Order: sequence, then C-alpha cells, then structure tokens
Amino acid sequence: MEFVNYEVEDYVAVLTINRPKALNALNSQVLEEIEQTIDAVDTNEVRALIITGAGEKSFVAGADIAEMSSLTKAEGEAFGKKGNDVFRKIETLAIPVIAAVNGFALGGGNEIAMSCDIRICSDNALFGQPEVGLGITPGFGGTQRLARLVGAGIAKQLVYTARNIKADEAYRIGLVNAVYTQEELMPAAKKLAATIAKNAPIAVRNCKKAINDGLNTDIDNAIVIEEKLFGDCFETEDQKAAMANFLEKDKEKKLKVVPFQNK
Ligand code: CAA
Repeated sequence: MEFVNYEVEDYVAVLTINRPKALNALNSQVLEEIEQTIDAVDTNEVRALIITGAGEKSFVAGADIAEMSSLTKAEGEAFGKKGNDVFRKIETLAIPVIAAVNGFALGGGNEIAMSCDIRICSDNALFGQPEVGLGITPGFGGTQRLARLVGAGIAKQLVYTARNIKADEAYRIGLVNAVYTQEELMPAAKKLAATIAKNAPIAVRNCKKAINDGLNTDIDNAIVIEEKLFGDCFETEDQKAAMANFLEKDKEKKLKVVPFQNK
C-alpha cells in the first residue's frame, strides 16, 4: 500500500493514513487502500482499531480538492458513494474503532473521524466542515453524522458557516471525548484500545452492534435488539468464566484477560 500503513500489536491495530505531502487528503486511491485495509482486518486477532494520520500536522485535511475540482455531477455522486461506503465499513466493523485525531480534521477528515466509535484528539487538532466554502455539501457523511453526534442546531451552524473549531470547542460540544498533548495522543489511544481489548471480545462487539443498531431504530425495536444480543452472550465461554470467577471471589482471576473466542 502506498498511502496506508497497518500494524498490529497485542490485539490492537493501528491504521495510519499516510499521504503527508497533501496533509493526508483522501483521493480515490487513499479511499481504496483504506477500504482494502478495513476489509482485511482480522477480527480474530484484533480487538480494537485505531485510525490516525501520518505526521504532526494533519489527521486528514479532507477529500482531495484537486481530484474533485473537475468531477461531473455523476462522478461527484460516485465519489461521495465511495467515501460513504468506506466509512460505513468503518462504522460497522465488528470491533471498536478509535480516531486519534492528530491535527487537521476537515471535511472528509472530520467525516472519517465521525465514522469511528470514539474520537480523541491532540491539542493542535482543528475540526470543521468547510465544504460550503468550496461550493459543495459535506459528502462523506457530514450532513448526517455531525447532527447525530452534536445535535442538529450546532451541526447546522458549523456546516452552514464552514467555521473550523479547535480541540477545546470540539471537546465542549461532545465531538471528541478527550484532548491530549501531541506527545500523549497515541499512548492515550493505545491505552484506551488496550483497556477495551482486555474485556470479553464478544460482549464488546455485541455492545457496539446494540448501540449502533439501536440508534437507527425506535426504542421498542431497540430494546429487542439489546435483548437478543444480551441473550447471545450467555452462549459464550467468556460469560461463564467471568461470572464463575466473580462468584469464586478470586480477585486474581477476575482481573485476568478472558480468553479470546470467536463465534
Ligand atoms: N485536497 C488536496 N490537497 C490538499 C488538501 C485537500 N483537501 N488539503 C491540503 N492539501 C495540500 C495542499 O494543496 C498543499 O499541497 P502543495 O504543497 O502541493 O501545494 C499541501 O497539502 C499542504 O497544504 P497547505 O500548503 O495548504 O498547508 P497549510 O498549513 O497552509 O494549510 C489547511 C492547511 C488549512 C488544512 C489547508 O491545506 C486547507 O484549507 N486544506 C483544505 C481543507 C478543506 O477544505 N477540506 C475539505 C475538503 S472538501 C471535502 O472533504 C468534501 C467531502 O465532504 C467529501
């Protein structure tokens, strides 16, 4: 891969978008390589994925403006679909995905971060949807996920004004969960991923599915989704072992990583 690096260590994978000359902007090739990497994540081996950008300045500075500049209506729609399809794969990946936002997260950069389960950022991060200043709408999910994450009023204001916001404001509106110094960001992302990876993997995946699927339906259907996924856990060795350890009051065992099993 030319623009994507992928490494796995101790159940945690790091996908780095690596096109620093263009501040990691997303052209068709970058999108294709992200998709291939996501498709190839071995969820038997990996329990949490971190997405970040190469370099100290930018997470992702958006979709590639040079590539978009000459698109026709049909090509524009196809480019939007490509981004949406890839980001939907991230959003629905079985395991949790953490965006470690290490700088510019503009347009498609904010949009890929929003397709992740959790966003944390460095204090130099800058978020925004600058599209209307370029004569387009946000096209990789920005008109949909921003309103779901921070509420329609704030989302509309950010999208209509194309105003960028710094890390502290992103934290205040709930777009990111935490802000770190640049040096602390990746260690914090890895620590968070490792904490997730220590828990029962099927239970964690079922939580992701329950929350995501439940948010997309009404509460009556949502609680049925939860009931089903809750019930499924009782077929797992993790549930039996973890509850038995609790009842044995074996503190040592209780803290042990439950063995990985795949359904
Ligand atoms: N597309 C293509 N190239 C980009 C890019 C982008 N989104 N963002 C930065 N680059 C390139 C620049 O053209 C420049 O290339 P050259 O060195 O070859 O000239 C290089 O990256 C470095 O950028 P700058 O010199 O501009 O760096 P800066 O520090 O002065 O400014 C910046 C940084 C504020 C992020 C500025 O680059 C910028 O405004 N970039 C565009 C941000 C943007 O509008 N993103 C949204 C795109 S639209 C979108 O994403 C649509 C969608 O929803 C799908």
